[in-house]
Amino acid sequence: MKTVSAVTDLRRERQTLSGTLGLVPTMGALHEGHLSLVRRAKAENDHVGVSIFVNPAQFNPNEDLSKYPHSLERDLQLLDNEGVHLVWTPTPDIVYPPGYQTYISVEEVARPLEGERRPGHFRGVATVVAKLFNAFTPHRAYFGQKDAQQVVVVKRMAADLNFPLEIVVCPTVREPDGLAMSSRNVYLNPQERQTAAVLYRALCAAKHAYDSGERRGDSLRAIMASAIAVEPLAQIDYVSAADPDTLAELQTVERGALLSLAVRIGNTRLIDNFLLTETPNSKLQTPNLRFGL
Ligand code: PAJ
Repeated sequence: MKTVSAVTDLRRERQTLSGTLGLVPTMGALHEGHLSLVRRAKAENDHVGVSIFVNPAQFNPNEDLSKYPHSLERDLQLLDNEGVHLVWTPTPDIVYPPGYQTYISVEEVARPLEGERRPGHFRGVATVVAKLFNAFTPHRAYFGQKDAQQVVVVKRMAADLNFPLEIVVCPTVREPDGLAMSSRNVYLNPQERQTAAVLYRALCAAKHAYDSGERRGDSLRAIMASAIAVEPLAQIDYVSAADPDTLAELQTVERGALLSLAVRIGNTRLIDNFLLTETPNSKLQTPNLRFGL
């Protein structure tokens, strides 16, 4: 495995890799969620590239960039064990050298949800991801469904800017109690950690209602909100039942929905989501399963 920092070194090493390249962009502090992307990239490509860069441009001033977890030595060991070929670990100065002033703003799909609560976040994400695409020139790039709006924004950006690559979306990897794996979970104390599974329970409750035929957006949002409300340590930031493509809130679910939520547990803000697909016979299927008919 080659680990490089300078852009010229990255380009030189990239040129030595023949066949297809799968890229997995990360901010490090790697966990099984990240590794699932690496394994998928490995299975589908001749070579795998990974970036480890805590991107200052996607943190807004009141978010604590300096506290973001780091574990570079361990991360590199994990990636080496997975058979990754090329890792880019640039410094902020390499990605944003003095005088840097070019940013990419995706418009509508970056506005609601995370975009509304984290101003400038997706501008930072779209910019760094475009730079990663240019630097690695991958055939495929791997992203987690865990960050559902990020997927929508990155797909839009890649299509709009004609990046000749495929965006592959991988399922969310969860802890045994359903908590989505996240680098931020290390901030939770034991009591908060126990509470954090409420995000998953809220999504399951709404999905259960959907599978039983509930199609009203307000009801699905209310079900998630009341599941969160039972936990005194949990504070809702938002609950959403939105169109999976436009991310506009739905009055009625007609062609599937993205259920998503952001919840503060103590000082830690967690997000999670379920993508509900159209299931025309779900009204019939759920009672059959439940009553064993
Ligand atoms: P980071 O939070 O490190 O996540 C890197 C990738 O891992 C993202 O595509 C994310 O969706 C995916 N991921 C995180 N947790 C996951 C889980 N539990 N299951 C499956 N996939 C998971 O997302 C970013 O970094 C940054 O915004 C980045 C795209 C690297 C741009 O800076």
